[in-house]
Amino acid sequence: MPKKVLNKRMNTQILQFNTKNIELCAEEISKGGIVAFPTETVYGLGADALNATAVKKIYAAKGRPSDNPLICHISDRSQVEKFAYITPMAEKLIDVFMPGPLTVVLKKKNVPDVVTGGLDTVGIRMPDHKCALALIDACKVPLCAPSANTSTKPSPTTARHVFDDLNGKIAYILDGGACGVGIESTIVDCVNGAILRHGGIPREEVERVVGKLGSPPKSDVPLCPGMKYKHYSPNATVILAACGDDQRQRIKTAYDNLSGKKVIFSTTDDYDGRNVCIVGADIREYAHNVFALFRKMDDENYDYIICEGVPEAGLGSALMNRLVKASGGNII
Ligand code: TXA
Ligand code: MG
Repeated sequence: MPKKVLNKRMNTQILQFNTKNIELCAEEISKGGIVAFPTETVYGLGADALNATAVKKIYAAKGRPSDNPLICHISDRSQVEKFAYITPMAEKLIDVFMPGPLTVVLKKKNVPDVVTGGLDTVGIRMPDHKCALALIDACKVPLCAPSANTSTKPSPTTARHVFDDLNGKIAYILDGGACGVGIESTIVDCVNGAILRHGGIPREEVERVVGKLGSPPKSDVPLCPGMKYKHYSPNATVILAACGDDQRQRIKTAYDNLSGKKVIFSTTDDYDGRNVCIVGADIREYAHNVFALFRKMDDENYDYIICEGVPEAGLGSALMNRLVKASGGNII
């Protein structure tokens, strides 16, 4: 009788950041394994970007569609030219924002198709995080990495979040503490001059360096394939209250009309005794905390989260993009 083939479940270990553990993780990656690591934005799930078999493990562990390309993470600026054709716009952005929460999209060189979802471009970024940089250095190859969450779930901003999603599927999670920014990098298409995803560096700051950027041209193939998928969602239903004079009243009415366990995400406790979760004092703190708080509400079995919307300027554009996606268009 044929032996029953069981899926091999790994014993996932959370490792503190030190030289020995960096070496352990680099060895795992050089053997074709995948490892989660911290960056200043969110935790990433990394593989050797030049090893197509290893890269496929990322898509499998996350349950991610294979046409959604991965960002390549580097630890040295000279690696940009090794893997992409640099443009004047990219050069300026790299000078000012690298390392940092910025991804430049350029025509690719020597990058396997499995990394780029078949596109002829590649996203490249250098994280501003000593643990990520030490790991990439030790691996001596770029690490392609998406956020280290199960597809559609909120991005992970602590090692524990990664463990909750990927326990049993990967060998190691490098623990570098909570991520500083809390939302993902800003993606700039440096071939066509457009912002593809709002993120940790506001559009205004990018445009101060390279001038006005366009919106992506309309085409059948989305320029940022990930944008067409459901994203960032907790199990609770998210309702987003757009900015406006009567925002507070809309939130109160929606809250009162819902039955179930419910909470208001707000920067103030100004809701007449209704259940409020303070997300931080300002937009930066709200962005920093939002994914972690989504996960906390799921742990506490909330049915509804009503989120205060913020003005779409500065970091507010990136935060609103995540809130709109998490709400699935459920906007009041
Ligand atoms: O901050 C970040 O960017 C984090 C950390 C781990 O670096 N990474 C991250 O990766 O957010 P991910 O895979 O969750 O989101 C990357 C997005 C996806 O929407 C993908 O479609 C888009 O970047 N992308 C990647 N390469 C691209 C390319 N060549 N052209 C257009 N979009 C691209
Ligand atoms: Mg992601």
